Amino acid sequence: MGNIRANTPYSFLSNLESLFSVSLQNSHEIIANFHQEMRSGLAGIDSSLKMIPSFVHRPTGTEKGSFIVLDLGGTNIRVMAVELDGNRKTALAAVTRFVIPQPLICGTGDELFDFIADCIQLFFKNNSLGRQQSYDLAFTFSFPVEQRSLASGKLIGWTKGFTASGVVGKDVVTILSEALQRKEMGFIHVVALANDTVGTLLAGSYSDPLCDMGVILGTGTNACYPEKVSRIVKSAGLGPPSGEMIVNIEWGGFSRLTTNIYDRELDSASNNRGKQQLEKMVSGMYLGEIARRVIVEMMKQGLLFSERSLPVFSEEYMLRTEHLSLIAQGSDLFADSTLKNVSAIDIRTIREICRIVSTRSARIAGSAIAAVVAWMDENLESDRTIAIDGTLFEKYPGYRENIMAILHELFGERAKKIKLELIRDGSGIGSAIIAAVAASGRDNFPHQTPDARI
Ligand code: BGC
Repeated sequence: MGNIRANTPYSFLSNLESLFSVSLQNSHEIIANFHQEMRSGLAGIDSSLKMIPSFVHRPTGTEKGSFIVLDLGGTNIRVMAVELDGNRKTALAAVTRFVIPQPLICGTGDELFDFIADCIQLFFKNNSLGRQQSYDLAFTFSFPVEQRSLASGKLIGWTKGFTASGVVGKDVVTILSEALQRKEMGFIHVVALANDTVGTLLAGSYSDPLCDMGVILGTGTNACYPEKVSRIVKSAGLGPPSGEMIVNIEWGGFSRLTTNIYDRELDSASNNRGKQQLEKMVSGMYLGEIARRVIVEMMKQGLLFSERSLPVFSEEYMLRTEHLSLIAQGSDLFADSTLKNVSAIDIRTIREICRIVSTRSARIAGSAIAAVVAWMDENLESDRTIAIDGTLFEKYPGYRENIMAILHELFGERAKKIKLELIRDGSGIGSAIIAAVAASGRDNFPHQTPDARI
């Protein structure tokens, strides 16, 4: 479908609404296709869902100890000290956030990991942690990794705008350990590698045994759930067939959605063209850019602001999801900007664009959540807690309500059995739980998959 042509902002917006709508029928189709892709992914057949075994199962709540966690997931790095009391309670004893300078995101892997090692060094210094003893570090690495054991895995491909060279295809734990050695921090041992969804699920189920799904709705998006080992057909020998292992779905890659012209243009201009289709329609990294593209089109058609102001919107990714979030909260972001003569209709139009783009995101995310819930519990018979982390879910006005709305349309009254639980910092805390399991030697999975085909 091509672009919308309209004479008034109103008619443009009503066309835009249909272009971005996810009907109940669409949602049922998404779920059916999602299940097919899950099945293929687990069987090692070509699929847009990688379905990656994580070598971790749910915790018992008795895991205990203090661990250092490095969380690398977006443009921020977090280094933290996490304490687990062995009785379902966790505490963040210290946390420092560092912003990764843009050139490092697109530079070389060595530069990126040297910077990460510097951040860890600073964290140790600021928290007076001595080098006299050794430390166990859990590494939350929020990119698709072909995991081969609890503490090793090869990067399949960067997402979320990263392109640092020399890392794809390599073991990221080795790369991190080498960077630590270069900075004379060989006393830090990387004992666990986890995706942020897995961390979030572990953090959620450490405190709530009903929790059996971890979701990230932030800069990127993804989810994981505990799968019966017998159903992970592609990785025979992962453990007792009756057992479970958490599977990282990598749902950002789901490619069976109906895209429109804005999605296609955003994709062609991206540095991972043809990849991460669901992520590009749902996650925080992209919603602002989709909205910017719509705004530019309306300006070109003389339906919004003044065409002379086009240069204000010419830079890709200048409009961020935080901006949409502020607009949705009622802020007149554009009223005092360089744009001249912003009318009340312009403000209303912008709000509508934000609503349309974010509603589609939440309805797709809700459909994907429903697909995983139905995979685990077809008739939604049990109560389920879903641990969710990420600023899109946490901060975007109405986002949670929009997810709940589609869950109600799909499951009716039974949707009340689903509890969406915000787990702040879950990605980091959960990795500490994994490190605790590793330290206790209780992971009881073989340490290499015979032939894990992703
Ligand atoms: C990555 C996932 C990650 C998600 C959320 C995606 O871009 O591929 O591994 O879980 O972002 O951070």
